[in-house]
Amino acid sequence: MSVASVQTPTPISPHLDRVVGDQSSRLHLSPAGKQENDSSRLLGDSLSQKPNGDKESQENGQISEPEPNIKPLALVPPPPKSITQRAKDAAIVLNRYRIEYKDDWDFPESILHSQKQIQKALERGAPIELVIPAFPFKSSNRAKKVLGPLPDEAERLSLLHLNGLCLAIKDAADSDTYLTIVSDGITYNGVSDKEVWQYGQQLRKMAEQNNCHCIRFARICDLVGAEHESDKLDEALYLARVSEYRNLLEANTPSGFDILDAIANDSDISKTYKGYKKFLMSERDDRTGRSRSQTERENSGIAKAMIVRGKAFAETVKLKYPDFVRLSIHPSNDTAKVSITMLPQDNEIVMTPWHGAVVREANGRVSMSHAILVPAMTHDVIHVDGRPSYFRERSDVFDWPSMEVTFEYMYPCGIIIRPANPTSVYPLSMVDMQKVRTLAMTCSPVVLRGFSNTKDRRTFIAKAHDLGPVLPWKSGVIQEVKDESNNDPQSNSVVSAEAMPMHYDGMFKIITVKDEKTGKEKRVSDTPHFQYFVSQSAAQPGDGYTLFASSDLFARYLPQTYNINKLEKIKWTCRSHGFFHHIMEDIPLVVRHPSRNSPCIRWHQPWPRWRTAYGFADISIDNGSQSLIKLIDSLLFDRRVCLRFSWQEGDVLVSDNFAMLHTRTSFSTDHPRELWRIHTS
Ligand SMILES: [Fe+2]
Repeated sequence: MSVASVQTPTPISPHLDRVVGDQSSRLHLSPAGKQENDSSRLLGDSLSQKPNGDKESQENGQISEPEPNIKPLALVPPPPKSITQRAKDAAIVLNRYRIEYKDDWDFPESILHSQKQIQKALERGAPIELVIPAFPFKSSNRAKKVLGPLPDEAERLSLLHLNGLCLAIKDAADSDTYLTIVSDGITYNGVSDKEVWQYGQQLRKMAEQNNCHCIRFARICDLVGAEHESDKLDEALYLARVSEYRNLLEANTPSGFDILDAIANDSDISKTYKGYKKFLMSERDDRTGRSRSQTERENSGIAKAMIVRGKAFAETVKLKYPDFVRLSIHPSNDTAKVSITMLPQDNEIVMTPWHGAVVREANGRVSMSHAILVPAMTHDVIHVDGRPSYFRERSDVFDWPSMEVTFEYMYPCGIIIRPANPTSVYPLSMVDMQKVRTLAMTCSPVVLRGFSNTKDRRTFIAKAHDLGPVLPWKSGVIQEVKDESNNDPQSNSVVSAEAMPMHYDGMFKIITVKDEKTGKEKRVSDTPHFQYFVSQSAAQPGDGYTLFASSDLFARYLPQTYNINKLEKIKWTCRSHGFFHHIMEDIPLVVRHPSRNSPCIRWHQPWPRWRTAYGFADISIDNGSQSLIKLIDSLLFDRRVCLRFSWQEGDVLVSDNFAMLHTRTSFSTDHPRELWRIHTS
């Protein structure tokens, strides 16, 4: 993400900044730099080191920690990361996308090898390159498995997920990163060559439409020494040459490759063979009256042929892209290739996008399923561009009387609601805010785009009352969030153009209550349930993002060692300086959602003095390892967890402030960015 007005951020030091007490009296204000707020500074050694086990403290509900290493507050930006550290941070990111990911320090051989490849690319000053054979064609079992022959919501989600992987590596390694997709459809039987071509063409279009700029596609002719045909390759030429391409590919089968020996002695091939047989059982049309044993014999032969062709294909990819990090869709022992998840899904066993259909549940879950298993009584097939695209659980929240609207899911979270016909513009006053409220509890942020009269003050306030009881601030019902060009370091950074720390609203809205156990008074958050915004004017595209991090997704991607049950015991302290100037202690890291009872993260990103011209904030963990700070920060900015939302003028947005955290990037003051916000309970 590049922002014209932003200075290139200097990475945070990989060591832990331990903060104890208020040391502000000993500090001098460092010159403030506008910072882009992303995850590039959040990875480091502390995440990739296995914690020391301390049985006693773990049993007492604490996550053990070493003796605190007290260091002074960060006054100046830390030095740039070394190439070695950048490569390691990129490897941590890649490791997190593995099918078998467990912990950040659990690097299999494939990740260690990838780290070396990445380091070499960084040393050469070259982009980091990844390659994956994938996206052959949509399953031929259209009766049971998928919704049609062309890419649909499953491929769209997958492309966004893979593009996010590249962006996350780019953040971590500070280097452009690209993934080359090599369709291996040519190597498999099942559908016609024409369908393989058309699927690939639609996939390319989809990547472009969804701004997946880090994804590249290789043509089959690029792999077999016919690169000169690449630019002029169209459907007719492809169909005319495909048999020749196939022969050229098969010529790359390693000499002496013995399929039976490979199945018996190579655990990855054995795993793939079993997977193929299982896949063929459900893939091949079973209405032709073959006996089960006959089908199994045939499938076994086909699976072996697929492996031989796959081996030739893999050799060809290796010859063509010797320095690329090799990814794979197939589960493996992560020795020679990195087996990654292809899209976010709550299934226990992962499914590739072309073997099933996406199912979105009303509770926010996303899974993959064979189409025939999705009950028609409870789920609708949603069409996009006139084609069936995914299943959505039936719910009143999608039923908007008197209005024809579309619902488009953003990645990795949130939904945009638009008038279905651009010529039918509906006023904000027509919107049922209770439906928006319900949807926001499982699918925040909810964006209303293309509605009229959204910027009108009276209408905006009236609809806030429809959303829920309005919670005014001292300054009034509406907080106008814009740059007020105030240079006083004691002023509120919310009304500046600076980036802000990741937080939930409530960190700065505090009430005093009596502690039931101790009887002492303490300060706690008075947390509003919903944030309700309208964009009065938007920054230029690519500037002034608001970032929303989902607690549901945060919990899904936690490492095994620090799962949500363990984090539920953690308490932390925030010492805010400047405008807010308060100390909040004993804050639970995880609270339960008031309606859903789902775990919700409570957090304020540490905000050192060098990052701000205004109030800084020190964060410490009360009863666990301080290394949790970096883990929490890095996961909240993880591309699988955090939406980078780009505003358009007139957008209305509702976000559940329990389920989500948020922050913003800095923005150029050349184009005034102004949001109005109201809190409701
Ligand atoms: Fe906020």
